[in-house]
Amino acid sequence: MRGVPQFIDQAGARAEDPRTEVLRALSRARASIPPKYFYDRLGSALFTAICELPEYYPTRCEASIFDAHVEEISGVVGRRATLVDLGAGDCAKAARLFDRFDPACYVAVDISVDFVREALACLQRQFPGLPMLGLGCDFTAGFALPDAVPLERRLFFYPGSSIGNFTPAEAVGFLRRLRRQCGPQAGLLLGVDLAKAKDVLEAAYDDALGVTAAFNRNVLTHVNRVAGTDFDFAHWDHVAFLNEAQSRIEMHLQAGRAIEVSWAGGGRSFAAGERIHTENSYKYRPAQVESMLREAGFRLERSWTDAAGWFGVFFATLDER
Ligand code: AVI
Repeated sequence: MRGVPQFIDQAGARAEDPRTEVLRALSRARASIPPKYFYDRLGSALFTAICELPEYYPTRCEASIFDAHVEEISGVVGRRATLVDLGAGDCAKAARLFDRFDPACYVAVDISVDFVREALACLQRQFPGLPMLGLGCDFTAGFALPDAVPLERRLFFYPGSSIGNFTPAEAVGFLRRLRRQCGPQAGLLLGVDLAKAKDVLEAAYDDALGVTAAFNRNVLTHVNRVAGTDFDFAHWDHVAFLNEAQSRIEMHLQAGRAIEVSWAGGGRSFAAGERIHTENSYKYRPAQVESMLREAGFRLERSWTDAAGWFGVFFATLDER
């Protein structure tokens, strides 16, 4: 794993054909699109832009936690681990930890294959001595790390509160699958967005520049490519609101007028105002995170929050009991 990063593309080996998956979700009475389809090349770039927005606090809050506590965090997670970056994207969050964590190797896992491949190639030039491996796969559906990745001392890094894009039950299922990828002395460093005031949350998902709206609407162009649909994103409005009962932000695309969408062999009508549900982003209390970890076979060792208590970083090890 030294020199040019090795890259293994398993993105094609999905459990379900993307076209079938998308058309099934679109054909339900309450239409939806799985949020992983946000992340084509443009969608990944738009998400990087979202992370720079003044309203989108999670990235800044998480970074402030690492800035303030990196010494303590690196002391707890230990050096020379195999750092497995789940949803690595541009690899920037993990790369900022290389100095302190001093990983023995770095594994970048992401569904957006081209995006992470380029990011990793660039990173390898900056850190020529660090063995790196790229893995293109939909790790949310389950994955197995290749044999080239040492089993001992795997440190899974899942920042950015991507865990919030699962339902709580799915999140526990995901953590259980992750637990099965853990060998001796494994750890999990998890970033989770915490419950907070409605106005802060809603602004973060409906920014003044309209970047989140573009991110949401871009999913339709990706869906057109994978499922052969003929969505015109200009007819769809971005909607984001806090569902307080479920403690989640919901994102939807709302038809601005009556729309017929067709694809080979089928189609569907949308009435004016009808919505396609595109994302949930759950916001947790720290005690809920601890109990999800416990349910999945992990033991919470330490956690840190930013000064406002808006975001949490949780470090867990294996619960061997
Ligand atoms: C990737 N995920 C944690 C983001 C979130 O906040 O739920 C995706 C996102 N959707 C809109 N803005 C950001």
